[in-house]
Amino acid sequence: MQRRKFLSLAGGGVVLAATATFGTIATRQPTNALAPWGDAGALYQEPRRRALSYAILAPNPHNQQPWLVDLSIPDKVVLHVNRTRLLPHTDPLNRQITIGLGCFLELMVMAAAEDGYAVDLEVFPEGADITALDDRPVAIATFRQESGTTPDPLFAHVMQRRSNKEPFDTTRKVEPETLAAIQTAARHGSRIAGDVSDSGIAALRKITTDALIVEIETPHAFKESVDLFRIGKAEIEANPDGIDFSGPMFETLGALGLMTREGTLDPTSTMFAQGKAAVLENAQTAMGHLWQTTTGNTRFDQIDAGRDWVRLNLAATAFGVGMQPLSQALQEYPEMASHYAQIHQMLAQEGETVQMLCRLGYGVAIGPSPRWPLEAKLI
Ligand SMILES: Cc1cc2nc3c(=O)[nH]c(=O)nc-3n(C[C@H](O)[C@H](O)[C@H](O)COP(=O)(O)O)c2cc1C
Repeated sequence: MQRRKFLSLAGGGVVLAATATFGTIATRQPTNALAPWGDAGALYQEPRRRALSYAILAPNPHNQQPWLVDLSIPDKVVLHVNRTRLLPHTDPLNRQITIGLGCFLELMVMAAAEDGYAVDLEVFPEGADITALDDRPVAIATFRQESGTTPDPLFAHVMQRRSNKEPFDTTRKVEPETLAAIQTAARHGSRIAGDVSDSGIAALRKITTDALIVEIETPHAFKESVDLFRIGKAEIEANPDGIDFSGPMFETLGALGLMTREGTLDPTSTMFAQGKAAVLENAQTAMGHLWQTTTGNTRFDQIDAGRDWVRLNLAATAFGVGMQPLSQALQEYPEMASHYAQIHQMLAQEGETVQMLCRLGYGVAIGPSPRWPLEAKLI
């Protein structure tokens, strides 16, 4: 284990990595957990299920996949939130969970259009609480066969879309024209802005790093991420969600007990210190930033923000640009209040809410993240 080193961050959590290889355990990939990526569009004939098989690939906070779907009414998809999959410490108002549900709905609508179905969406038809999601439907979607439905060119990138949690190449700039082209993908009313200038990159690297430090040094917030670590194939296959660490290094470290949730949480441990350093280093490889603001901050605005977020992520994919949300400074828990105020001062116009902020850059190609199959999400 002499060559071991800590590498990177995922979802606000810490990653321990090693370059050691240990024979067969090093090659174990979580195949079942990745199967939904191969099954999308291939497993079902029924139009709603076909569209949903793509929707479950949506980006969402900590890969909690908080969707629950009721298909009992013909031609309708009734979407609920699974309240056991919220993130109460870092997302106390469920704003980010709602954004993830918006990403889900957008992919569902896009996939339906590919099959010639228009979808009428009623969002929060029974109303919503802005402080906490409840059991009322998030959306009722009605599928209607329609000749002349226009497919969305962004749909072509659904299978390659990722949240790239690896360091970006700091020798390769993101051109302003590329940033501008990505920004045009939004359709649902968010204001999209970005910055690839040296001064902008420096300022946002600093605040995103500072906010990450707050998260890591706030035990209840950090624990929420670390509790969702899935280390190695067996854990990922058992729970294909959360913050997954697969591949030779993590398989080995997990098997040897050198990467544990307990160790990562202990602020006196080497695991904690090195992991923290790696996390911060990742934010420091940003080669630009993109953000999304809304004038209101209702549940409707949050769903629309999610719909636009996945479109931006797909557009970046089309240009080969990596994106990693860095959400820490946008979070509404007390310990983050000064960073929340600061980021709003930097990025928001009068009265706006910053819904998403990400770093941009060119990174290594990464594989898809685990998903629960659609069947696990039907009620
Ligand atoms: C509202 C929202 C907030 C997110 N915040 C972060 C974040 O702070 N850090 C991060 O690495 N990823 C973040 N993500 C990305 C998710 O971790 C990612 O979508 C999920 O793990 C699934 O991976 P995939 O997008 O590659 O399919 C966020 C995603 C959403 C929708």
